Order: sequence, then structure tokens, then C-alpha cells
Amino acid sequence: MVLNLADFQMQFCDGRAPHLYEGDTKVLIDQIVSADAFIIGTPVYRGSITGVLKNLFDVIPNDALRGKVIGFIATGGTYHHFLAIEHQLHPIAGYFSAFVVPGGVYAHNEHYADGELTSPEIIGRLKALGESVVEIRQRLGGGFIGVEKPLIPRKSL
Ligand SMILES: Cc1cc2nc3c(=O)[nH]c(=O)nc-3n(C[C@H](O)[C@H](O)[C@H](O)COP(=O)(O)O)c2cc1C
Repeated sequence: MVLNLADFQMQFCDGRAPHLYEGDTKVLIDQIVSADAFIIGTPVYRGSITGVLKNLFDVIPNDALRGKVIGFIATGGTYHHFLAIEHQLHPIAGYFSAFVVPGGVYAHNEHYADGELTSPEIIGRLKALGESVVEIRQRLGGGFIGVEKPLIPRKSL
């Protein structure tokens, strides 16, 4: 399933429990919770991820990505911010105790012609990323492999 966040009217995270969101926000949360592997892509904005993607990470439950496999894609205007995958997206996956496919795919304006992705190198990497997500998920199987973290509360206790 492909979810384009631009198609959803997401509520801003306000610290409430995830099950209390409604409408499109609830639809998105439920889709994320029910999936067991992801390819997550974002344009780079200000050297980081978009606000709308960060908002999605903030409204989902703490265990929504726990032990799940994620492949990351980022796009930017130039090569300048290719490390946004390592420095902005990987730490969020770390918070969620997710498995990240080593590497990731970064594409910028020179990889496109007339709005279409044309770079054979990037297309090949994207294919490898998709195959890696599926293979790692299959090798891991179900169940959590890893070290439990202390619960991080949403509200002060
Ligand atoms: C608000 C804003 C901030 C941006 N910041 C960056 C940036 O820091 N680094 C970069 O390489 N590109 C930056 N860009 C360019 C976008 O990453 C680029 O347009 C996008 O990846 C292409 O996807 P799109 O066609 O969906 O916009 C920015 C674009 C916008 C609108």
C-alpha cells in the first residue's frame, strides 16, 4: 500500500494518546500500526525531514514501528543533504526500535528529467532497497528481536 501524506488532512500532534485521534489521522495511524515493513520517503526540507512526516512519527504509538523493517528514501535539490538519511531519519528509527536497511537512497534534481526519475543508478538502488526490505522482513520473521527500552511517557507523570 502507498500512503501519500499530501492526500491526508492530518491533525497536529498535541500529546494526546494515539487512539484518541480521529478522521484521516486515525486512518494513517491504523495503517502504520497494521503494516510490518515500510519504505519511507521524504523530500529534504531545511536539511531535515518534512514537518508533515515528523508529525506522523509524533502521532503514532510508541511501539508502532518496534521490530519492523524500514528502508529510507530522501530527495533534495542537490547532493548537499544526502546525510539527512543517516542523521535525521535513522535516529527516529532508533527511537522506535526499528530495523533499518543499511544504506538508503538519496535522489536529487540531476537524477530527474521533465519530472521523471531517469538515473539508472538511482533506479537500481531503489530496486535493491525494495528487495532488501522484503528479504530482511522474511529473514526476521514475526516477533521482536532486540533489547527492550524503558517506556518513554507522552505526558509528565
Ligand atoms: C521548504 C523547502 C526546503 C527545502 N530544503 C532543502 C534542503 O535543505 N536541501 C535540499 O537539498 N533541498 C531542499 N529543498 C528542495 C526539496 O528537497 C526538493 O524540491 C524535493 O526533494 C523535490 O521533491 P518535490 O518535487 O516533491 O518538491 C527544499 C524545498 C522546500 C520547499
